[in-house]
Amino acid sequence: MKENIIIIGSGIAALQLANHLSDRYNVIIITKSAKKTSNSYKAQGGIAAVLSPEDRYESHIQDTLMAGRYHHANEEVEKLVKEGTQAVKALIASGLPVDRLENGGLDLGLEGAHHVNRILHCGGDATGKYVIEQLLMQLGKKATFIEHELAFELMLSLDKQHVIGVKTKSKSGEVKQYFGSHIVLATGGIGSLYPYTSNHAELIGDGIAMAYRAGAELADLEFVQFHPTLLFVNGRTKGLISEAVRGEGAILVDEDGNKIMAHAHPLKDLAPRHVVAHKIYQTLKQQKKVFLDIRNLEHFEERFPTITEICRQSGIDIHSGLLPVAPGSHFFMGGILVDTFGRTTVHGLYAIGETACSGVHGANRLASNSLLEGLVFGKRLAVFLNSHAPVHRSHDIVEDKRQPLSSKLLDRLNMVELKKAMMERIGIIREETALQAHLEWLKSLNVNEFFQQSLDHLSREEIEKVFMFTNSCLIAQSALFRTESRGAHIRSDYPEERGDWKDQYIVHSIAKGIRIRRGFHEQNQTSVHA
Ligand code: SIN
Repeated sequence: MKENIIIIGSGIAALQLANHLSDRYNVIIITKSAKKTSNSYKAQGGIAAVLSPEDRYESHIQDTLMAGRYHHANEEVEKLVKEGTQAVKALIASGLPVDRLENGGLDLGLEGAHHVNRILHCGGDATGKYVIEQLLMQLGKKATFIEHELAFELMLSLDKQHVIGVKTKSKSGEVKQYFGSHIVLATGGIGSLYPYTSNHAELIGDGIAMAYRAGAELADLEFVQFHPTLLFVNGRTKGLISEAVRGEGAILVDEDGNKIMAHAHPLKDLAPRHVVAHKIYQTLKQQKKVFLDIRNLEHFEERFPTITEICRQSGIDIHSGLLPVAPGSHFFMGGILVDTFGRTTVHGLYAIGETACSGVHGANRLASNSLLEGLVFGKRLAVFLNSHAPVHRSHDIVEDKRQPLSSKLLDRLNMVELKKAMMERIGIIREETALQAHLEWLKSLNVNEFFQQSLDHLSREEIEKVFMFTNSCLIAQSALFRTESRGAHIRSDYPEERGDWKDQYIVHSIAKGIRIRRGFHEQNQTSVHA
């Protein structure tokens, strides 16, 4: 009999894993919306890989480490870059329609903090769409998709030692149970905890909250990446304007025409994201509008069809040459702590892609390294599971003795209020008083009590509220704890990187609360189970 493997999420990491699993597995992919509603699908920016004769693995590794402020598991970064290049070559060989030059060579672009042109695109600025379509085509009928079911609770075996299944809630509110020998979380990041975001509205960190509730360790939650340039119209962000636009020469200017990055960093408009996002944020705070000046770019509509369409839908005329922008949450470097194969600290539970904290992004992800991560770690987990001896566990789950979470408590939680508070208190710039105030507010709403209460009876919306407030609480605790600025975590009260925080990882778990671990990999190996 085939073993069930349950993958929650349908982005690039999930599909890459499913594609590489051997036939001994019955692959079930559960997603809370439609299978193509993923951040991977809407990714404009490309995939970074060492594909040109001028490029070197070492150069991509160095750019990754520099952007992430040396807060990485260095061995994992090396795997990301080397195995990533092989994975991208395999995708191209399988027929991925990549953008090419007139002479047939790869048309490799430049993005922030890369020192070499190494960004592969498809369809100009529709890379994610093409990659996902390709992976879905390769997958064919090998996996069963269960769409529009919200996974909300991981189920533990009778001895509480293994995760053996997941509960979902259908659109009509029915609770369903799925069992598998391996449960994989690939649910993406937390972008939509913020009002300004490039992410799909669904992306609130379901997997992260679920893993935490099941006892898994989470790490690096203070590191939230803000993308510098989201289209900003009438006080709202309307979608991403890819860094590739700056890669091709667009410049950030304020409303008086001043080039705001001219003296802010040696790489100017292509400085690491946190530097650019911070500068735009400061300029907006001075009540000055910020624009991306695209007047010196030729063939913009052909080169960036997705962005052209976003502008058209938002009433922005690209021929004016000035696109109004603001920063918004984009990528989560933190997540569920995993080892080199994607194993979490709970038996039977795995995490890949943005949901996981695998040590490859450090304190700030290098542009176009995220699709790459999905390809590399999706495949790494498949190779690991294919070599794993078959496991057949009983479907007896531990009795749930927890109190049901009271709907009355949830009535007091307002998601609009939460998002506003996230932006103001745990956004691009953080400081102690605001973080303390946020945690006090969450305490007054009894958020800490949610972690150990049953969710079965709640509606999907209520469960999502629980996940959002849970994640907000954990992120705020980490942001308060790290008393330095590093990468995407900028503290106005601790503006410098501090030597005593180097290689210190803030880890959360229900059993142990917050603790510090020194060194990503060394500690991870000792605590992650086979
Ligand atoms: C972009 O195109 O600017 C986004 C790419 C990325 O975040 O990797």
